[in-house]
Amino acid sequence: MGTSDPSFRSFPASDPQQQDAHYQQSTIRVKELSERDRRRLLMHFLGLEDSDRLLRFGTVLPDELVTRYVQRLDFVRDTVFGVFDAELNLVGVGHLAYVPCDMKPVLSGATEKERVAEFGVSVSASARGRGIGSKLFERAGIHCRNEDIDTLYMHCLASNQTMIHIARKAGMEIHRAHGEADAYLKLVPANPSSMLQEAMEQQVASLDYTIRANTRAAARWLAQLPSHLPTFKDGAE
Ligand SMILES: CC(C)(COP(=O)(O)OP(=O)(O)OC[C@H]1O[C@@H](n2cnc3c(N)ncnc32)[C@H](O)[C@@H]1OP(=O)(O)O)[C@@H](O)C(=O)NCCC(=O)NCCS
Repeated sequence: MGTSDPSFRSFPASDPQQQDAHYQQSTIRVKELSERDRRRLLMHFLGLEDSDRLLRFGTVLPDELVTRYVQRLDFVRDTVFGVFDAELNLVGVGHLAYVPCDMKPVLSGATEKERVAEFGVSVSASARGRGIGSKLFERAGIHCRNEDIDTLYMHCLASNQTMIHIARKAGMEIHRAHGEADAYLKLVPANPSSMLQEAMEQQVASLDYTIRANTRAAARWLAQLPSHLPTFKDGAE
């Protein structure tokens, strides 16, 4: 998956194609989302086709239920990550929900911790295949480690080849039954490097977002200035 997190497998450095993919992924900024992102989250989820809603939620959620899902997202209890495109549209969303492990029978005996984290992810159709889903998954893993969670769990349809590919690449153990797949990844404990990595990623993503938002706002402001304003020349009073 091309990451510095030892929980994940990494690319062999000699493969040029994989090096390209690694470079592309390293430019993807994953930002932790908050209350103020709710409207963009709604736009992201409403933009998913029925077939994607089926893969993401396990059922084709109609718009009303998608809206209710977004309204009920709890940014204090859960952790939500996002990736924005150049126009600041939310093109990727990763959701970590923390659940007692006895609610997941498939994990019985897999951990001694009280909680596991369940991960759900979606990437807008126009932004797929660029490593955004993998990067969101990687960030979720680091966040779990730093939250003292050692098991990252994911449930998806067994037919979801892309997600199964990402899960397998990350080294997840996958159990398939009745057309569905449960996958989980054991994470190594946090260390100063994982703490620093997450803090840096969040800082860089927030800074990147702020610069782009301010640039857009300035461009809009300039565009609405009257065109007959005097221009200033060197030496003019
Ligand atoms: C699954 C999903 C999040 C992936 O997002 P993404 O940004 O395209 O993912 P990435 O670009 O990081 O990785 C895609 C990988 O899957 C591979 N892939 C794509 N289509 C595939 C297929 N049909 N079969 C197997 N692998 C496939 C790509 O080659 C790539 O692998 P690589 O990194 O080794 O080259 C996105 O397709 C999506 O939102 N789907 C709908 C919702 C969903 O399925 N959510 C998951 C359930 S919670």
